Amino acid sequence: MDRLLNRRLVLQLSAAGAGVLVAGRAFAGTVYAAPPPLAKKDTYTVGFAQTGLTNPWRLGESKSMQDEAKKRGYTLVETNANEDTAKQIADVDSLIAQKVDILIFPPRETQALAPSVLKAKAAGIPVILIDRDVDHSIAKPGEDYVTFIGSDFVDQGRRAAEWLTKTMNGNAKIIELEGTTGADPAILRKQGFDDYLKGTFKGTPTAGGPQTGMQIIASQSGDFVRDTGRKVMQTLLQSHPDVTAVYAHNDEMAIGAISALEDAGKTPGKDVILVSIDGENAAMDAIAAGKLGASVESSPFFGPIAFDTMDKYVNGEALPAWIKVEDRFFDSSNAKDFQGKQF
Ligand code: AHR
Repeated sequence: MDRLLNRRLVLQLSAAGAGVLVAGRAFAGTVYAAPPPLAKKDTYTVGFAQTGLTNPWRLGESKSMQDEAKKRGYTLVETNANEDTAKQIADVDSLIAQKVDILIFPPRETQALAPSVLKAKAAGIPVILIDRDVDHSIAKPGEDYVTFIGSDFVDQGRRAAEWLTKTMNGNAKIIELEGTTGADPAILRKQGFDDYLKGTFKGTPTAGGPQTGMQIIASQSGDFVRDTGRKVMQTLLQSHPDVTAVYAHNDEMAIGAISALEDAGKTPGKDVILVSIDGENAAMDAIAAGKLGASVESSPFFGPIAFDTMDKYVNGEALPAWIKVEDRFFDSSNAKDFQGKQF
């Protein structure tokens, strides 16, 4: 929660006109040098270190970055870490060695990739983080990197918990399928969900006290991958056949869990209620079919906002430490309208 409070504090300070450098002081009481500047040029070479291309979300994010770079006549140098953190660190090193003008990327793990941000800064290359953030105790927005652009992952978890609590009338035995261990969305989506159920969520709206009937009976990583989610669910079903609800940190794992439930002779949407996050096409289909209950949006379409932010940075505009992306909510009331229109 500290990181969330820090982010909010910085936003408040920035909104009050304090600027990112002053906002940076709020973290540690020290004045830090700003991120490296980016001179005005006709075109830029942008390094984009993708975590992997193993799910529709990642494919959607890469396409959005490629389309936007093309539209602006910028060169995008994209790497693919194949969901291997060490490879993403090496990819960032390689992009730094190639002397790209700027790095825009989603750090696969929040702590492991923070030193890469510092390396880029030391090499004079500004960094904009999209989708996932790094640990602010290692690298700070507004000081070590320009800004973080992304969703409020804690609130996504809170919204999933609120929907599930209402749908289950406050009584459920929940299996939680977590995202990649050490990744910002896995840590914070869990935090938001847990805090809501414990009645300790600090944002608004708050839960009306602890939801004692809502029990998380098992929680395990499915690495944000459909087949891993299916296998983890298959195993957990053996020790927890009494499960009545599933909270998956992304749609792909929820779809995997649906397969595992069906293989075990259960009816998703009736015997077991599922909620997840992302809003991909397969999730819209699963909601329309009554198998998935709801999905909180987490959009992968960062291209336009990432490049707009880069241009603002070039023009010397003040930027907040966190540029928050607003997320919609998909359930049986609207999923049909979005079928085939997502990613
Ligand atoms: O960082 C965002 C998460 O990463 C998405 O929810 C997930 O699908 C992706 O792999």
